[in-house]
Amino acid sequence: MADIKDIRSAALAAIGACDSEDALEAARVQFLGKKAELSELMKTLGKMSPEERQEKGPLYNGVRTELNDAITAKKTELRNAALNARLATETIDVTLPPRPLPQGTIHPITQVTDEIIAIFADMGFAVAEGPDIESDYYNFTALNFPEGHPAREMHDTFYMTPNEAGERKVLRTHTSPVQIRTMEQQKPPLRVIIPGRTYRCDSDQTHTPMFHQLEGLAVDKTTTMGELKWVLSEFCKAFFEVPEAPMRFRPSYFPFTEPSMEVDILCDRSGDNIKIGEGSDWMEILGCGMVHPNVLKSGGLDPDEYQGWAFGMGIDRLAMLKYGIPDLRDFFAADMRWLRHYGFAALDMPNLATGLSR
Ligand code: PHE
Repeated sequence: MADIKDIRSAALAAIGACDSEDALEAARVQFLGKKAELSELMKTLGKMSPEERQEKGPLYNGVRTELNDAITAKKTELRNAALNARLATETIDVTLPPRPLPQGTIHPITQVTDEIIAIFADMGFAVAEGPDIESDYYNFTALNFPEGHPAREMHDTFYMTPNEAGERKVLRTHTSPVQIRTMEQQKPPLRVIIPGRTYRCDSDQTHTPMFHQLEGLAVDKTTTMGELKWVLSEFCKAFFEVPEAPMRFRPSYFPFTEPSMEVDILCDRSGDNIKIGEGSDWMEILGCGMVHPNVLKSGGLDPDEYQGWAFGMGIDRLAMLKYGIPDLRDFFAADMRWLRHYGFAALDMPNLATGLSR
């Protein structure tokens, strides 16, 4: 039978040479298992004299404990080595700068347009669009501005160079031409809003040559001024995020509506900021009226069968009022500092559920 010293040194050498947990397990079975030489030696203890057993017992047991400890230590060593090897292949360079944050912001006009669309979409209005370069027919004639009518002079129109046919296009002076285009393309009942760019030859603190309008149009067999007032009132409350938005309807004139009205909203100008829906001042925010029978005819509809209402408002003006922007011209100055200050987070789409402007 092998000598305990030889068993010990052979086992320690074999354990030390193991390079995997599988090899270590095999070594454990070989040197400490039931059939191991050490186990055979342990069995001989029973047949020994008490004196001999007192000497060999602690010796054999000591070797067994030593081998067990060596295996445990080796196992820890192998696990750490495996972990270190994995960490070495999975490095993260913490000195790399983080992914850059989105830099761009949503322009207040785009934000306000999205807010307006969300409000009207909730009331069942679809969005319609038309071209910025418009024919004289759609911009004026079809909207009941007869040739040479003085109302044409109310709009400081940008005229394009006449084409070969002598036709002189215009930069649309309002979004109302899209009323006609919508009536030509869709059958009533119609409920549309038309946001878009409009142009007039005018420039000061409250006028820019290019600005934005929002048109609204409803056409059906029965449409009433009561509906128009309700829709505008609901819109103002939702847009300005106030519980009440008292309005004042004043008689006015537009060639394409009859009767025509201008609408003022109650506001308080006493402090630094204009507050909407309170105080005792009035501010004009839009024009509206019942669609003129001639306009329905231009749109291919029979005014004896159909009637409608329409409104038009300045988006830029609404944005200035809601977000306290004092000078209209800043919208179009493309000043990065201004855009960062007044811009909106790129991924925040306005919706009524979470609040329009949060
Ligand atoms: N188009 C008119 C304007 O630009 C606004 C308006 C639209 C008025 C629709 C009545 C109905 O001033």
